[in-house]
Amino acid sequence: MSVETTLADVRQRAMAGLSEASSLGEILEWERLYLGPKGELTVFLRSLGALSPEERPIAGKAGNALKVELTALFEARRQALATADLDQRLEADRVDVSLPGRAQTIGAAHPVSQMIDDLSDIFALMGFQTVFGPEVETGRYNFDLLNIPSDHPARDVWDTMHVDAPGEIVMRTHTSPMQARVMEQTDPPVRVIVPGRVFRYEAQDASHEWMFHQLEGLAIDRNITMADLKGTLTEMARQLFGPKRRIRFRCDFFPFVEPGVDFAVDCAICDGKGCRVCKHTGWLEMGGAGMVHPRVLTGVGYDPAVYSGFAFGLGIERLTMMRTGVDDIRAFAAGDVRFLRQFARAA
Ligand code: DAH
Repeated sequence: MSVETTLADVRQRAMAGLSEASSLGEILEWERLYLGPKGELTVFLRSLGALSPEERPIAGKAGNALKVELTALFEARRQALATADLDQRLEADRVDVSLPGRAQTIGAAHPVSQMIDDLSDIFALMGFQTVFGPEVETGRYNFDLLNIPSDHPARDVWDTMHVDAPGEIVMRTHTSPMQARVMEQTDPPVRVIVPGRVFRYEAQDASHEWMFHQLEGLAIDRNITMADLKGTLTEMARQLFGPKRRIRFRCDFFPFVEPGVDFAVDCAICDGKGCRVCKHTGWLEMGGAGMVHPRVLTGVGYDPAVYSGFAFGLGIERLTMMRTGVDDIRAFAAGDVRFLRQFARAA
């Protein structure tokens, strides 16, 4: 076979192979067959030495021309296939940017915190400032200044958690100690509410927790009477539970008030007719209240002949239970988000 025929044959097969190659893998295989170190054309060009001196330059020229031609065609084809290959991979790996992102879960205020916020708003409109006090107290503020001397049996009413420290240091059993703290710092008139945690050394059940929240209220001025107390709490109940609510006072004893009362609101859930939430009495107990005892006033340097005032303390979990119908106080501090989520509201 002459050199021309051989090259024509190689060229024809190479051209056919080139047009058949349809992937990057196939075109590289084609390169190996024809242009690679052991490829047909390479082998042909290397064998030129065996030709006669006359044939050699002609065969060399034709061989090199074919190599240039095939190399150019190969490069163009490889480029095209590489681009197609890239396009295909990009298409396959495509990220759909229109998919919604992963939602951020934003926390919501705890139902007790919501109630504290609502109470602060309600009382702010009646001129009360919201203040906070320490959860660890001295016996002096938790008891003594509230007219509960250490030898008095009334001290036993508060089952107390004592802090292992010198002196009488306790987890506050109520928010009432803030009455004395506020009055010591301020001259009358005083109008404050004090939301916060309180602690009791007692067993838990559906309506008792060892830790819960109270809202203390205190108003001191000239000529404050029970009517002001009644009006203030009635307004609070209306704001919280609706326009029709009524307040009931019954005599009760607390060492730091005289007279002392417990107070209830008629049940908003059954309109006072009697239901599961109010235990079929038509009334819901909210807390204790009364006219601030003269001894409490003297204890902080206020003159009871000039100033009088009222105080109240109510259970915040209890108010929340009335508003929502939740019937187990332990749910509030249990930390189960499935429970808490039901009360989430937009900030
Ligand atoms: N501190 C009382 C308690 O925890 C509640 C209370 C009753 C507060 C009467 C008051 C009040 O301010 O006047 O049992």
